[in-house]
Amino acid sequence: MSFPTRRLRRLRISEKMRELVQETRLSSRDFICPIFIQEGLKTRQKIESMPGIERLPVDEVVDEVGTISDLNIPAVMIFGLPSKKDDVGSSSFDENGIVQKTISEIRKNYGEKMVIMADVCLCQYTLAGHCGLVKDKKIDNDSSIETLTKIALSQAKAGVDVVSPSAMMDGQVFAIRLGLDDAGYSDVLIMSHSAKHYSSFYSPFRDAAECAPKFGDRKSYQVPYTNPREAIREIEADIKEGTDIVMIKPALAYLDVIAETKRRFNVPLSAYSVSGEYALVKAAANQGWIQENDVALEILYAIKRAGADMMVTYFAKSAAKMLENL
Ligand code: PBG
Repeated sequence: MSFPTRRLRRLRISEKMRELVQETRLSSRDFICPIFIQEGLKTRQKIESMPGIERLPVDEVVDEVGTISDLNIPAVMIFGLPSKKDDVGSSSFDENGIVQKTISEIRKNYGEKMVIMADVCLCQYTLAGHCGLVKDKKIDNDSSIETLTKIALSQAKAGVDVVSPSAMMDGQVFAIRLGLDDAGYSDVLIMSHSAKHYSSFYSPFRDAAECAPKFGDRKSYQVPYTNPREAIREIEADIKEGTDIVMIKPALAYLDVIAETKRRFNVPLSAYSVSGEYALVKAAANQGWIQENDVALEILYAIKRAGADMMVTYFAKSAAKMLENL
């Protein structure tokens, strides 16, 4: 008698059968596409450590969002590179700042057809390059959250849908929610970088956005990668403070934190597959050591499988083309 049990291979018998029993699905609708906009730029500029990603002048943004929208990607995340930095990051909350202009251009041209998200942080805008303001050589929490609130408000005025604070200051979500509500922007969502880890995977982004700290490091505000329990407490705090969506960052080395967050909380969950994750794949593929598209999809599926409802990824456009057969 042959053994009748557990012939799992029956589930893999044909392409269609495999499609039918597929447990994790990924589509371009899961993606948030990052966009870097640089003030004063005339033409698109390549970012060396992130092949395929460019910094754009503001006049190019409408075209770029058109391409993203044609790929059925529902959201963009705006990062700005201002032409002037100072001690207090004034250009971050300027009504005519680079991010504010970009947001209003997209809003004017796409209305509700694209979800506009914007990074709320200080590091690109201050001389010190830290995510908060510096006082006596330390990062000062409470003055920082006042400025972060001003940034969020200026973005709301420009027409943003979602503000995404990434400074990891305590109380930033609460302060921003209060500020938005008081000014009549109760419809603007917050997607906080709730558990943003102290990570070496950010270095290509720091090249791209010129935001490396000029002294010290970010250890006094970002979560240590050894501390998943502390990451969960950050997420818990942000939910209590009123975030609409939580985010875990980076993604690939933090799948355990994503899975645990999904298990514990009933809140939309986002993950940020950061610049270093992208650069690793690009560099190895460039050497001919791995297949870029296959590896990229495997990573993005893993992030989804771990529990992310959506993800910020530099592969958004290329993965969308593969998934949608475009
Ligand atoms: C700045 C910011 C960083 C990233 C997004 N926002 C860098 C940092 O904290 O140093 C990293 C994104 C990436 O690496 O793709 N607050």
